[in-house]
Amino acid sequence: MNVILLGAPGAGKGTAAPLLCQKLDLRHISTGNIFRDEIARKTEFGLKVQKLISEGNLVPDSMVMDIVTATLRTIRQGFLFDGFPRTVAQATELDAFLKSEGRKIDFAILIDANEDVVVRRIAGRRTCGKCGQIYNVLTGTPPKAENVCDKCGGALRHREDDTETAVRHRMVVYREQTEPLIEYYKTRTNLIAVDGTKTPAEVNGSIFEKIGVVAR
Ligand code: AP5
Repeated sequence: MNVILLGAPGAGKGTAAPLLCQKLDLRHISTGNIFRDEIARKTEFGLKVQKLISEGNLVPDSMVMDIVTATLRTIRQGFLFDGFPRTVAQATELDAFLKSEGRKIDFAILIDANEDVVVRRIAGRRTCGKCGQIYNVLTGTPPKAENVCDKCGGALRHREDDTETAVRHRMVVYREQTEPLIEYYKTRTNLIAVDGTKTPAEVNGSIFEKIGVVAR
């Protein structure tokens, strides 16, 4: 099974992804995580995209597609994309690439949450710099000790693109460039929508239920 997670910044894609991948045996591919890793390692790619990302703009499609297709060529198991595609051009290119390999997207899952909810979530988000575990100091999933990861003891960080100005801009970019993918996937795969304002357990529960219903 191959899955795409759609949703605004802060809707809960990165929170839902690990359990979905574990239960459905999928490889988690987060373009945001890949780019943040490139930035942390100060690679040529990372240096090129750092300013764009910190200001809340998208990385150009051609740069994204180079990384995604190179990653897909190394994966034979099912995958779950989190944060990709983000433009209709990326989706079209992805479909063509998958078709050439006899693969396809089976589900596009929209985690739906409004702007007030996501801005508050992003203000409270803390992410482990070592293992990537996501916490929130405002919405009910804080770490046990302040700024220390429960899982690995790593230091927690506030993302560079999580300022209120960058988040508001990311929402504009989302509405203009990414939201049209909802229409795109309506006619091309099984599109399911879940209420992202529920608890993380309820969000995952709804996804499993709806995948089960559609897949039956
Ligand atoms: P990316 O890393 O993909 O960021 P994003 O899409 O903006 O999404 P976020 O990671 O902010 O949110 P999320 O939905 O994963 O929410 P999370 O689970 O963390 O991309 C970053 C940047 O990279 C982009 O802006 C762009 O510049 C670039 N980029 C990436 N992919 C690209 C592409 N394909 N093309 C071009 N550019 C690209 O949750 C948020 C917080 O809320 C957490 O603290 C969490 O604990 C909490 N939370 C989550 N769910 C719940 C819940 N149900 N209830 C209460 N709290 C919750």
